[in-house]
Amino acid sequence: MNQQAIKIVIISGAGISAESGLATFRDPDGLWQQYDLEDLATPQAFARNPALVHRFYNSRRIQAAKAEPNAAHLAIAKLEQAFNVVVVTQNVDDLHERAGSSKVLHLHGKLNEARSSKNPNLIEVIGQRELKVGELAADGSALRPNIVWFGEDVPAMQPAIREIKSADKILVVGTSLQVYPAASLLFYARDDAEKVLINLEATDTDAGYQFIQGKAATEVPKLVKKWLG
Ligand code: NAD
Ligand code: APR
Repeated sequence: MNQQAIKIVIISGAGISAESGLATFRDPDGLWQQYDLEDLATPQAFARNPALVHRFYNSRRIQAAKAEPNAAHLAIAKLEQAFNVVVVTQNVDDLHERAGSSKVLHLHGKLNEARSSKNPNLIEVIGQRELKVGELAADGSALRPNIVWFGEDVPAMQPAIREIKSADKILVVGTSLQVYPAASLLFYARDDAEKVLINLEATDTDAGYQFIQGKAATEVPKLVKKWLG
C-alpha cells in the first residue's frame, strides 16, 4: 500500500497547545481551576450573564490569536507529505490550521467563529474581534461564541467516528479524556490500527493504546519522524 493511502487520525486536546502558551482545563493552572465552568461554559451561563461569558471567550480569542503553533502542531502538519491525515481536535484554537494541517475537525467549536443562539448551522467567521452583548445573528437571535458548551451536542461526532473507524494509525495527544462523548472516540479504533497516546500524565484509559509519557512538542516530532521513516 503506498504511504499516501495510509490514513492517520490525530485526536488532540488542550495539552497540545499548552507549549504554545494556552491554558489547559484540568491541569493545576487550568481554566477550570481558576473559573467555575458552570458560570462560563454552559447555555444557562450565557442566558444568565452573557457579558461574563463574552468576556471569558473574548480574552481566550485574543490569547489564541497571539499564540503560535508549536513543534507538535508542525510535525502533525508534516505528516501530510506522506499520509492521508485528519485531525480531530477538542481545541477551539486554530493552531493546527496555522501549522498547515488541511483537514481539521473541531468537536467543540472554534474561537474565531460566532453563531446564532437558535440555529447552530448559522455561523459567522469573526476572526479575533470581540463579541458584545446585544449583537444579533442574521436570524435575529443573540450572537454567541461558536463553542460547544457542557450539556450540548457535538455536531461533528458522527463524522469524527467515521474518520477513526477508517484509520490505520491513531495518535491521541494532550487530552485528559475526561469529557464525553469526545473521550469515547478512542474505542472506535480498528483492532489492527496502530494506536499511540502521548500525554504529560498517564490518563486512565484501557483502550489499548501504546502510552508515551512526555511533552507534546518533544514526543510528537519523534513519533512523526518514525512514521515518516
Ligand atoms: P461533564 O459533566 O461530563 O464534565 C466533563 C468534565 O468536566 C468532568 O469530567 C469534570 O472533570 C469537568 N467538570 C465538570 N463540572 C466541572 C466544574 N464545575 N468545574 C470544573 N470541572 C468540571 O460535562 P458534560 O456536560 O456531561 O459534558 C458532556 C456534554 O457536554 C456532552 O454533550 C458534550 O458533548 C458536551 N460538551 C462538553 C464539553 C466540555 O467542555 N466538557 C465541551 C464540549 C461539549
Ligand atoms: N504535552 C502533552 N500533554 C500535556 C501537556 C504537554 N505539554 N500539558 C498538559 N498536558 C496534558 C495534561 O496532562 C492533561 O491530561 O493535557 C491534558 C489536558 O487535559 P484537559 O485540560 O482536561 O483538556 P482536554 O482534555 O482538552 O479537555 C477536554 O473539556 O472543558 C472541556 O471543552 C473543553 O475541549 C475541552 C474538553
